[in-house]
Amino acid sequence: MLSAALSWLSSCDILPPHCRRGGRFRSLAGCWRLGPAQSALLILVCLDKNNTKFEYWNTLIAITVNQPMRRPDRDGGASRMATVAEVPGDRLPHPRWLSSANDRDYRRWRDARLARYPLRVEELLVEIRDPFRVTPAEHAAIMSRCDRANMALYAFGLMKQDELLLRAGLLSLGATFGLRAIEDHRSAGTDGIVRIEVVNEGGRNGYIPYTDRPISWHTDGYYNFHSPRRCVGAMLLHCARSAEQGGENRLLDPEIAYIKLRDDDPAHIGALMHPAAMSIPENAEESGAIRPVNVGPVFFVHPSGALGMRYTARKRNILWRDDEQTRKAVAALERILDTDPLVLRIKMSPGQGMICNNVLHDRSGFRSAADEGRLLYRVRYHGRICRPEN
Ligand SMILES: [Fe+2]
Repeated sequence: MLSAALSWLSSCDILPPHCRRGGRFRSLAGCWRLGPAQSALLILVCLDKNNTKFEYWNTLIAITVNQPMRRPDRDGGASRMATVAEVPGDRLPHPRWLSSANDRDYRRWRDARLARYPLRVEELLVEIRDPFRVTPAEHAAIMSRCDRANMALYAFGLMKQDELLLRAGLLSLGATFGLRAIEDHRSAGTDGIVRIEVVNEGGRNGYIPYTDRPISWHTDGYYNFHSPRRCVGAMLLHCARSAEQGGENRLLDPEIAYIKLRDDDPAHIGALMHPAAMSIPENAEESGAIRPVNVGPVFFVHPSGALGMRYTARKRNILWRDDEQTRKAVAALERILDTDPLVLRIKMSPGQGMICNNVLHDRSGFRSAADEGRLLYRVRYHGRICRPEN
C-alpha cells in the first residue's frame, strides 16, 4: 500500500512543487481507510534540500479496491479535497497594505471591511454535518465568514470517542479549504496535529500552552517566521473538551488591527512592516536543539496579496526594534487589543472549532476537573485558506 501510494503520488500532479522536485518526501506518516467511501488520508513528511523535515503535507484520495489507484472524480467529496489550491506566484504587495494616508482605494476598502465585520461571535458559527464531506452550502458559509473576518467557527458532533477518526476529520476539513502543508512542530503527533492540554511531563512540559495559565495576545508561530511564504499562515483549533471554568479566547482579525493602527497613525504601519520590527531570541530547548533567533516584521504581505501578521504581546524573550516609532506602534496595538469593541470572545464547546488565517487570539486561564481536563487539537499550516480551483 505504502509503495503503491508513493509511486502513484509521484506520477500525478497533486503534490506541491517542492515535494515533486526530486521526490523529496520521505514517508507516509499515516494512512487510514475511511469507511464505505474508500478514501484514504495520506500524510507525507516533506524534506528540504538538506534532507531536513520541514512540514507535513496531506491529501485525501479515493481508493478502488483491487484496482490501481486513480485520481478522484471531480464530483466526489474526496475530489474537492484532492484539488491542489496552489499559492499564486510572487506578486507585488497590494498597494492597500502600503502606508499612505491619502489612498482613496484603501479608504473604500477600509470602510467596506469595517461595515461587514461581525459584531457578535455567533455570526461566525457554521454547523457542519460531516468534516469528511463538507457540502457546498457549508463550504460557502465558512468561506463567507473567512472573507468577512479571516476566521470561521464550526461545529460538528461526530467522532467524540474515536481520536484517530477525529484527527483525520480535522485534516480533511483543513484540506477542503486548501490547507495541506502542516508546520513541523516538536510537539506534533505523526500527523502534524498537536494536543493542547495540561501536561506535567514529557517534551511539552514547561511550555505555557500546556498549562492552565492565561496566554496573552499572539498569532501562532510568531517565532517561526522565515518569509511571507514560509510562515504559519493558517490554523485550525478544535475543542474536544472544555474547561469547567475559564479557557475563553478573545479574537481579532489582523486586518482590523491594521485598520485601527492606520487610523491612529499611518506611521505605525511603516514601523510594523519593517523587516526587523520584532525579534525572538534564540531558545535552547530541552532536547538540546537550539531554535535560532527569529527576526521579521509584524505585518507582511503574503504572496497571494493578503496581509499576514506575526505578533506576541509577551514582555519576556522578545526584542522590539529600538526605535521611537516602533515603541509608539506597539503601544497603540496593545491599546487596540485591550479596548477595541470589535474584539470577539468565545468559549468553545466540545465539537466546536475555529479555522482561520492565523488571527490574533489569546486564552484566559482555566480550571478543570482532574480527570477530564481541557483538550484542544491544533493544526498550523503554511499557506492560507483558499477556494478550490473549480
Ligand atoms: Fe495560539
